[in-house]
Amino acid sequence: MAILNIRIIGDPVLRTVADPVTDFGPELAKLVADMTETMEDVDGAGLAAPQIGVSKRVFTYRIDGVEGHIINPVLENSEDFQPDHVEGCLSIPGLGFPVKRYRATRVTGVDMHGNPVTVEGEGMLARCFQHENDHLDGILYTDRLEGEDRKAALRSIRNANYDSITEKTTAKRAKTVGSSFGGSSFGGATTGSSFGAGAAGTNG
Ligand code: NI
Repeated sequence: MAILNIRIIGDPVLRTVADPVTDFGPELAKLVADMTETMEDVDGAGLAAPQIGVSKRVFTYRIDGVEGHIINPVLENSEDFQPDHVEGCLSIPGLGFPVKRYRATRVTGVDMHGNPVTVEGEGMLARCFQHENDHLDGILYTDRLEGEDRKAALRSIRNANYDSITEKTTAKRAKTVGSSFGGSSFGGATTGSSFGAGAAGTNG
């Protein structure tokens, strides 16, 4: 297994609609294992394959001890919404904004062996599924912001200082890569940590 580099906003792979998985061999098993390890290393709530540069419809999730992966996911969302909650994204370090998400989500897809999987979640788990599935369609949570929050997010990303934040984050992660385990080192003042904690809230 290996810890992989996480792509940062500006990388075209994050804006590309990912392809369905058709090959269920050992390479896929390695991808899922590496993504899981990478997600755990940065204490993330979820990780989508495009975030590590692989344009395939795969994501991993990790919410309150509920952990897994889904391949070729299809989402069915409730009609109603949950209270807005701050989200962050591992590909947009240092920022966090409240995002409107559906209350409940059912995900159907397959696992790494091609066996059918259905997972249902509400609240944070549903939020995570919606965030990660968006990544597979080239959508980032900042696209879903409106009004002042949207302006503030775009302003921060355009800001010259933002490049130094992403550089610091990348350097920090690089230290973890190859070391024993970074644990929750990602949860700093500038980057937030896992679900609900820290300034930037959920990272996925
Ligand atoms: Ni994300």
